[in-house]
Amino acid sequence: MVISSTSSAIFATTILLILFASATADREFKLPKSDEMLLEFSLNLEYLECEFFLNGATGWGLDQIQPNLTGGGPPPIGVRKANLSLFTRDIIYQFGLQEVGHIRAIKSTIRGFPRPLMNLSERAFANVMNDAFGERLYPPFDPYANDINYLLASSVIPYVGLTGYVGANPKLQSRLAKKIVAGLLGIEAGQDASLRTMLYEQKTRMVIPYNYTVAEFTNRISELRNMLGRTDIKDEGLIVPRYLGAEGRVMGNILAGDRNSLSYSRTPEQILGIVYQTGNPHIPGGFYPRGANGTIARKYLKYGPYSKE
Ligand SMILES: *[C@@H]1O[C@H](CO)[C@@H](O)[C@H](O)[C@H]1NC(C)=O
Ligand SMILES: *[C@@H]1O[C@H](CO)[C@@H](O)[C@H](O)[C@H]1NC(C)=O
Ligand SMILES: *[C@@H]1O[C@H](CO)[C@@H](O)[C@H](O)[C@H]1NC(C)=O
Ligand SMILES: *[C@@H]1O[C@H](CO)[C@@H](O)[C@H](O)[C@H]1NC(C)=O
Ligand SMILES: *[C@@H]1O[C@H](CO)[C@@H](O)[C@H](O)[C@H]1NC(C)=O
Repeated sequence: MVISSTSSAIFATTILLILFASATADREFKLPKSDEMLLEFSLNLEYLECEFFLNGATGWGLDQIQPNLTGGGPPPIGVRKANLSLFTRDIIYQFGLQEVGHIRAIKSTIRGFPRPLMNLSERAFANVMNDAFGERLYPPFDPYANDINYLLASSVIPYVGLTGYVGANPKLQSRLAKKIVAGLLGIEAGQDASLRTMLYEQKTRMVIPYNYTVAEFTNRISELRNMLGRTDIKDEGLIVPRYLGAEGRVMGNILAGDRNSLSYSRTPEQILGIVYQTGNPHIPGGFYPRGANGTIARKYLKYGPYSKE
């Protein structure tokens, strides 16, 4: 008797909590402006990852898979199907589809914006690698040539998104925005871990025809991102000096993390400097020839490179 009345009380309480939670969620659907701006900003990177992964795996992009999520924005420049093994293609296709869901989740919460113009051409990636090595690689690095090149190129992006979500989290006010950002962060972190694991297995292999190993590529890409983001270390390759490894004890670095192995965070400003490849959120370029979209990114563009805020 006692037990059953307790359990029906628990049951009733649970129902009330569920009703209350869904009522709260409905009320929160209108996000505070600052939450909206942060969530909107992440749409830029989600579009980029979505197109790079979907096209890399299948030769098809958002226009074929879910056209109403493009908002009529222009198709990306120079993206194409990569020469991938079945194993890698399988994984990358899953990543691409996950990004479709991310775009839908964001756009069904906030207004957002149409797909921005993105330059995902071989040249755009070749430039990243040239900048990373401080020399002109010959022949130019082709991100679509094979598994290793594609995985290295892929490692350029989700990690930047991950640091952005870690950075956005403490600034969020609403439960709804926190819930979405945690969900996005979880998957981005998983993608980053998968990519890093695949590369880690081949860390000592030469990236043909260059005289650099896979680990060296990841280290150089990380150094470049630290420089473009204008920060000290927020990015680490697969093999690091021991003091940067977990607990200062190892050189293997399957995941990047700070002294306590917590993920690094980046601000939108730092992220823009990286994805524009200019180191300056006021000067568009790189993957976004006309700049990223949304209130935060447009604000930097509006004020131009030399204005002070
Ligand atoms: C987008 O298209 C899908 C089917 O392709 C449809 O189920 C969905 O309702 C559409 N969304 C909007 C916002 O039009
Ligand atoms: C940014 O988004 C707005 C809609 O929110 C659109 O009108 C504008 O063309 C977009 N700008 C760029 C550069 O993509
Ligand atoms: C894409 O980027 C590459 C490298 O920066 C550049 O050479 C090319 O002109 C760009 N394409 C377009 C259409 O902007
Ligand atoms: C595709 O990649 C494989 C190795 O992953 C390589 O042997 C082959 O030459 C590549 N094909 C083309 C057309 O680049
Ligand atoms: C390749 O790099 C190694 C050390 O990093 C160097 O000793 C060697 O001379 C280089 N080979 C060529 C062909 O550049």
